[in-house]
Amino acid sequence: MLTPMRWNTEGTLDLIDQRLLPWEETWVRCRSVEDAARAIRDMVVRGAPAIGITAGYGMALAAQDLVRLQLQEDDEESLRGGVSTRSQKHMETMFAAYRELVDSRPTAVNLEWAAQIQLEKASELVSEDGSAADIFAALLREAERIHEEDIRCNREIGRHGAELLREGDRILTHCNAGALATGGYGTALGVIRFAHDAEMKVQAVATETRPYLQGARLTTWELARDGIPVRLIADSAAAYMMSRGRIDAVVVGADRVAANGDVANKIGTYALALAAADNSVPFYVAIPTSTLDWETPNGAGIAIEQRKPEEVTHFCETRIAPDMIEAENYAFDITPAHLITGIITEYGVVEPPFEQNFEKVIGRPREGG
Ligand code: MRU
Repeated sequence: MLTPMRWNTEGTLDLIDQRLLPWEETWVRCRSVEDAARAIRDMVVRGAPAIGITAGYGMALAAQDLVRLQLQEDDEESLRGGVSTRSQKHMETMFAAYRELVDSRPTAVNLEWAAQIQLEKASELVSEDGSAADIFAALLREAERIHEEDIRCNREIGRHGAELLREGDRILTHCNAGALATGGYGTALGVIRFAHDAEMKVQAVATETRPYLQGARLTTWELARDGIPVRLIADSAAAYMMSRGRIDAVVVGADRVAANGDVANKIGTYALALAAADNSVPFYVAIPTSTLDWETPNGAGIAIEQRKPEEVTHFCETRIAPDMIEAENYAFDITPAHLITGIITEYGVVEPPFEQNFEKVIGRPREGG
């Protein structure tokens, strides 16, 4: 199965370089938490669950550094302060790693969620006087658990989502919410993948997703690789196709879902939801519950990342706008809950009103939420 990240037994995190797909399949090696944070910032790895999992492994890389540091200190017999000084140092290092990861991209809640789980685990071990080796072993185990759990959730999302579809449906999706954006299998693409595997003869319609072209480059690549039928359209063609009855459902992923069901996702999602509502096309959002932010009441509280203007003024590194033109580059937008037909989670499909129904379907807020 395609997974965008793997832990290497030499103690590195390897990430498929999504900036170079579909032209080249190259893996980037992260040796430190700084490398992992840089990979997230520079879009080597992207997609909310995938950057969350990378943060989980990033914290393990920071703990691995503690082991190296402790060995050095033991050699130099510089542990004069004893266990309490060492514990303090361990926590300072782990907290700095947490901050570095959380600050790498602002919108996806999964990043903070995974880094927080790891920070709490480290703190638990430090308070029990655990050694650096104990902390590293526990954090690596936890990162692997987060990774595996994400894949399990995606398969469940796929199963629940496929029940909403009919034989032969043409499903529009935006950006890339696939294996590349997660631990594997995908959320929105997980739904399409599950329906395809159940021989429902579905067809994906991928928007190109200007300006970063996640749809044109990544969604088409991973679906074609698995033999799943996909057609590529310009972003601006989506509303017309809906008005002509050529789209049966829209399924997208999300970077953060607020407690009232407002959804932050790739720029252009809101426009797709408006077009879907105007043409009575069901609009679904597929998420693992790690993307649900119970602490943010609505979309107004979600920070929207702005990226460098060159992504808009240029197309594949060639300038397409006149030199004097300035651009604005919002990476995400907010789709209000009232435009959403259902939110597909690993627990089942949540229907509006989301505020009440999240708890009914999911049970209770996730730990720390
Ligand atoms: O800027 P990106 O490529 O990280 O944006 C990704 C998206 O908007 C995805 O739709 C979202 O993270 C969900 S991925 C399962």
